[in-house]
Amino acid sequence: MNAKIIGTGWELPAYEADNDYLSTIMETSDEWITERTGIRKRHLAKEETTTSLAAGAAGKALKASGLKAEQIDLLIVATITSDTETPSTACRVQAELGAVNAVAFDINAACSGFLYAIHTADAFIKSGIYKNVLLVGAETLSKLVDWTDRSTCVLFGDGAGAAVLTAAEQGGVTAQAIGSDGSRWEVLSCMGRSNHNPICQEQAEAGFLQMNGQEVFKFAIKTVPQCIEEALKQAGISPEEVTCFLLHQANKRIIQSVAKRLKQPEDKFPMNIDQCANTSAASLPILLAQMDEQGRLHPGDRLVLSGFGAGLTWGACVLEW
Ligand code: UT7
Repeated sequence: MNAKIIGTGWELPAYEADNDYLSTIMETSDEWITERTGIRKRHLAKEETTTSLAAGAAGKALKASGLKAEQIDLLIVATITSDTETPSTACRVQAELGAVNAVAFDINAACSGFLYAIHTADAFIKSGIYKNVLLVGAETLSKLVDWTDRSTCVLFGDGAGAAVLTAAEQGGVTAQAIGSDGSRWEVLSCMGRSNHNPICQEQAEAGFLQMNGQEVFKFAIKTVPQCIEEALKQAGISPEEVTCFLLHQANKRIIQSVAKRLKQPEDKFPMNIDQCANTSAASLPILLAQMDEQGRLHPGDRLVLSGFGAGLTWGACVLEW
């Protein structure tokens, strides 16, 4: 049995901050951000939370799938910005939806989180343990970025995307290539609380996201084409046979570089980075759900989903719509 997507949904916070607005609060410009990244604006959570965005997207995906909340066996939220350290965002989404029969937990694989979630769902579906799985990628990165560091804060946005997968004899996820390299964790990190037990002198302090942008850029343009090629090889198809490549929306120049490396036309690489910026684990499911809503996905289409992020982590999967 393969894991097949039968419903998608997305949700973005109401408030939008464009590049011109950011240029009024820090030394940056619309020209710099647009040229270097392709980002024009991002949605930032004012009233919304990771949980509310996740539940909103998940509810829409569930409705589109035609399943009832009680039919969901497994509910995974990919996030690095859970509202609570514990419980998981997944448990709170489960409560919001009334998915009373689901096993619920979060995955922390940063921007690769949704691919790790697909990987996990596929394994549970293939093994026959679970039939119906609800996956969500949800983030409020705006609470993690350092708003005094213009080289990172302009890149990120908040939002959530979701997909319901079910066991199917044909189509669905046909191949995956996924990996991690913990030895390079310092390239992109967010330090948690420091030790603050009674025998330590240190003060507890919250950390912000820190990134070596150029290292991440080099890692992405090398690793993403490699893992896509590996997944395509497993699926036994060529890049030419792929209908479209949905890549993590981190930087337009990274996506263009991957298209070039795969010798595929850029129009096979849909983007929403100009509207949403980098929403980390939410980026792929938001793009997928928006394309689904716009009627741009058709039965039999061959899609590649691929991403990369902190960890370092990466992944690609091939699926038939
Ligand atoms: O999900 C994974 C998350 N991370 C990523 O995907 C990041 C991957 N990396 C990137 O996308 C790019 O490396 C960045 C967009 C982060 C940076 O682009 P770049 O072309 O590598 O720029 P740079 O870091 O080499 O900086 C060039 C200049 C510097 O000024 P000087 O030293 O040349 O005078 C920066 O200080 O641009 C300056 N700069 C800015 N200027 C205006 C950096 N950020 C900004 C800014 N506005 N927001």
